[in-house]
Amino acid sequence: MSALDTFIREVASVARASDDEHQVAQRVAELLSALLAGGYRPPAELTRTSADRHVTYPLYVAPDDSLSVACVVWAPGQRTPVHSHETWGVAGIVSGVEREVRYLKPRDDQVRAPLTPAGVNDWTRGQVTVCCTTDDDVHAVTAIGEEPTIGIHVYGGNIGIIKRRSYDPATGAVEWFASGWDAPSATSVG
Ligand SMILES: [Fe+2]
Repeated sequence: MSALDTFIREVASVARASDDEHQVAQRVAELLSALLAGGYRPPAELTRTSADRHVTYPLYVAPDDSLSVACVVWAPGQRTPVHSHETWGVAGIVSGVEREVRYLKPRDDQVRAPLTPAGVNDWTRGQVTVCCTTDDDVHAVTAIGEEPTIGIHVYGGNIGIIKRRSYDPATGAVEWFASGWDAPSATSVG
């Protein structure tokens, strides 16, 4: 069994064992740290950048959509909007640098207002972070540095189809979106 298959099996077991997202995400972060420390590299065709925007390739999607593992690739300078995930998530860096700008998640009953910044982190090769739990999952990511940023992301659902929020941080205005998945053949080599 490959290192990735073993990892997926262990993540699924951890996710089944608890309803506590914080506990699950923390344990998955430890598993992802070990996977990266063991030298895991995603297949080359899933590390290609696109000139248009960052891309999200599927490494694994559970048949019941309870779990997904993505390889997310940014060309230098590419950035995401401010967005939510609506589930737990863990991100580990394979190469490059990911600058994460976090915000407090507005409550659903809160009056629309500018988002409150909650810190900036630069994540580098081998580092793993719990990017989200449903109650605390709002951030924007920029690839800084000279080389593409490649990350392995694990989510407690099918991240390509989950209805998520995109925010205007200046006003708190929300638009709902689903990010979809990218196919390796649809992107340019970079
Ligand atoms: Fe994100």
